[in-house]
Amino acid sequence: MIKMELLLFVFVLVVMAATAESKTAGKPGCQLNCGSVDIPYPFGIGPGCSRSGFELSCLTSGSGVAGPKAVLAGTSIQVTKLSIETAESQVILPVGWQCFNASQPKDSNGNWSAAATEMNRHGVYRISNTNNMLVVVGCNTLGYTESLRTEGGSYGRTYYTGCMSYCNNSDSAQDGQCAGVGCCHVDIPPGLTDSSVNFRDYDHSAMLDYSPCGYAFLVGRSNYTFRRADLMMDRNQTMPVYLDWAIRDNGSMSCADAKDKPGYACVSVHSECVDSINGPGYTCKCSTGYEGNAYVDGGCTNINECAWPNTQKYPCYGICLDTDGSYECRCHRGYQNSGDPKEQACSPKFPLAAQLALGITLGISFLMVGLLVTLMMIQKRRLNEHFRKNGGSVLQKVENIKIFTKEELKKITKNNSEVLGQGGFGKVYKGILEDNTMVAVKSSIEVNDARKEDFTNEVIIQSQMIHTNIIKLLGCCLEVDVPMLVYEFAANGNLQEILHGDNSHRIPLPLDLRLDIAIESAEGLKYMHSSTNRTIRHGDVKPANILLNDKFIPKISDFGTSKLLTVDKDFTMFVVGSMGYIDPVFHKTGRLTQKSDVYSFGVVLLELITRKPTIYDGNCSLLIDFQKAYEQENSGKAMFDKEIATKENMFILEKIGRLAMECMKEKVEERPDMKEVAEQLVILRRSRKAKQGNHRMNPQPFEEISNEGTPFSLGTGLSASSYGSVSAPSTPANNESSNL
Ligand SMILES: *[C@@H]1O[C@H](CO)[C@@H](O)[C@H](O)[C@H]1NC(C)=O
Ligand SMILES: *[C@@H]1O[C@H](CO)[C@@H](O)[C@H](O)[C@H]1NC(C)=O
Ligand SMILES: *[C@@H]1O[C@H](CO)[C@@H](O)[C@H](O)[C@H]1NC(C)=O
Ligand SMILES: *[C@@H]1O[C@H](CO)[C@@H](O)[C@H](O)[C@H]1NC(C)=O
Ligand SMILES: *[C@@H]1O[C@H](CO)[C@@H](O)[C@H](O)[C@H]1NC(C)=O
Ligand SMILES: *[C@@H]1O[C@H](CO)[C@@H](O)[C@H](O)[C@H]1NC(C)=O
Repeated sequence: MIKMELLLFVFVLVVMAATAESKTAGKPGCQLNCGSVDIPYPFGIGPGCSRSGFELSCLTSGSGVAGPKAVLAGTSIQVTKLSIETAESQVILPVGWQCFNASQPKDSNGNWSAAATEMNRHGVYRISNTNNMLVVVGCNTLGYTESLRTEGGSYGRTYYTGCMSYCNNSDSAQDGQCAGVGCCHVDIPPGLTDSSVNFRDYDHSAMLDYSPCGYAFLVGRSNYTFRRADLMMDRNQTMPVYLDWAIRDNGSMSCADAKDKPGYACVSVHSECVDSINGPGYTCKCSTGYEGNAYVDGGCTNINECAWPNTQKYPCYGICLDTDGSYECRCHRGYQNSGDPKEQACSPKFPLAAQLALGITLGISFLMVGLLVTLMMIQKRRLNEHFRKNGGSVLQKVENIKIFTKEELKKITKNNSEVLGQGGFGKVYKGILEDNTMVAVKSSIEVNDARKEDFTNEVIIQSQMIHTNIIKLLGCCLEVDVPMLVYEFAANGNLQEILHGDNSHRIPLPLDLRLDIAIESAEGLKYMHSSTNRTIRHGDVKPANILLNDKFIPKISDFGTSKLLTVDKDFTMFVVGSMGYIDPVFHKTGRLTQKSDVYSFGVVLLELITRKPTIYDGNCSLLIDFQKAYEQENSGKAMFDKEIATKENMFILEKIGRLAMECMKEKVEERPDMKEVAEQLVILRRSRKAKQGNHRMNPQPFEEISNEGTPFSLGTGLSASSYGSVSAPSTPANNESSNL
């Protein structure tokens, strides 16, 4: 295996070497140059290396030879250049001359046909008429050349051409001037096969000292400049001459004759035949897009136009793409060309101004989008932060309440369009839920991290307070600085407005309704105080915090947030409660207990029966005046609201008044608790109903109670157990009504 691979490798190397050789345009195994002269096929040195007629020799040594020197085979004519592309070669030829001396001033002894016949033994060369000229140097010399033997005609040749040079005296000839004085030159006709020149004899006797000879020679058009010194130049002087070579097999063959015949020289693919323009025959060249030697098999190779160093030759004003035999040129991305990018420069699809405008527009758009996204993220983060700060993660798990988003809340309150009133910490807004339930939306306190736990606990507690007489917390929104709480809606406002509002709010309030309100408010507070998991105090019981729904069912409200204090936190750092309702004991001790609520409720009872605010008629204190009335007359009669102070109501009003006084006792332990207060009130209502019934039907068993001296003393007789079955205010009422 390894051997095989090695062989293959060697084979590849050989093939590559062969390819490389053929590219250098010679036959394999033949000498490719001689000195500085490259030798491309059909030229060659040695047998089998050249086409017939193109043989060369390379002289490496010999007389006067410095270094290798290429010569036409069998001659001493030096070749200095060979070109496949232009089908030209440059050779060095001797000049023709004719000299005189004193003894033979007229007869020439010149060499008339220097290198004439031997140069073109096979007839492949023609003197290039386009690149050469005939120069005659001398002061009385006519030189000419002749070519193309022809049958008939006066002299046997087709062309004779030459010129005459003369000098008036020794100073006449001028350097650089070759126009008839000491030097003349003429164009030559095409078809010259050799460089033989002829002279006409003219008398040189007068000028032997400065021009003993005449010279005539062919030379490259730009390779000779006359010097006056040349009038005496060496006879073995040589001149560079351009030769056109061509394939001229058997004398004359055009492309049409030669094509597809044996010996056709243009053997490479992608090669073309071109008829010779100087004499018969043809030359070969690579097709457009290919370069190399068309005389060699595979000699024409693709030109990589794109790698061409001279951009003028294969222009492309865009992206250059080499193809086999040609190349493509496309504009760069974003550029266009109405014509051919090989011919004219591409222009930007968008002009610079448009690009700039587009760029700026895009830039600004990106910036704005970025800004917007950032703002939204900040907003979102703020919402989330509020949500987190306000204890959202905890509250999310609370079942009874719904967490509203800021957006939902906005919708519910119609963007805070209807203000219900002023709450403890801000405005209260009216809202309508999707199911058309009316709600009140209320600011809470600002919640910081320290108060977060308190707040969440309070919200949780509120959510668990499910009682007819406690305003129901429906949900909250935490995505704001100050959390918003969503409550059940109370259509009739609060008791404060009903009792003490201005005349527009003032409605008649029968005692029964007042009693119901008292009882049910007490029930609410009782429920609150008896809450199983925590012992809770309202802390701010007052008529303003007793809301009334459309059926005048009282709802204890505003017990939330800062006022919900647990038993184990007895001391509160901030003042709670409202002036006129604050338990003086709390005032003294700073110790807020459920009995403080009882005290405050006592004040509410007084307000219910007197319909007077805590401070009335300017600066009269309801409490003090009421107490005074009792002390002086053992009756609150003077204070009772005239609307209800009828004779038959008097008894129950007195009872309520006494109960209120009990609630407000200075000794906290002498005050009843809310449960007892509620029970007392229920008993009063029952006795009242019974009494009302008694007027029409039968005697009331509760008469006895009323006869007792201290019916409201908080003895064991009025313990919770004895009235447990009637703690719900509606139950006895229903029972009674069914009795009726
Ligand atoms: C003049 O030229 C002829 C022919 O070359 C030669 O034989 C002769 O010796 C020359 N005479 C002189 C004086 O040089
Ligand atoms: C003339 O040229 C031929 C061939 O190049 C040469 O053999 C001969 O000696 C030359 N004659 C003279 C007089 O130089
Ligand atoms: C020609 O040569 C003669 C003799 O040297 C001289 O006298 C004459 O001036 C010359 N003519 C011109 C035009 O130079
Ligand atoms: C003849 O002139 C051409 C064009 O200037 C130049 O390329 C070439 O080398 C010259 N030949 C010699 C032998 O000086
Ligand atoms: C011409 O030939 C002479 C001898 O005949 C020689 O001295 C001279 O160097 C030669 N000149 C050239 C340019 O070869
Ligand atoms: C050219 O002539 C040679 C003999 O000199 C002959 O063998 C050859 O076939 C001829 N070529 C053509 C194309 O006529």
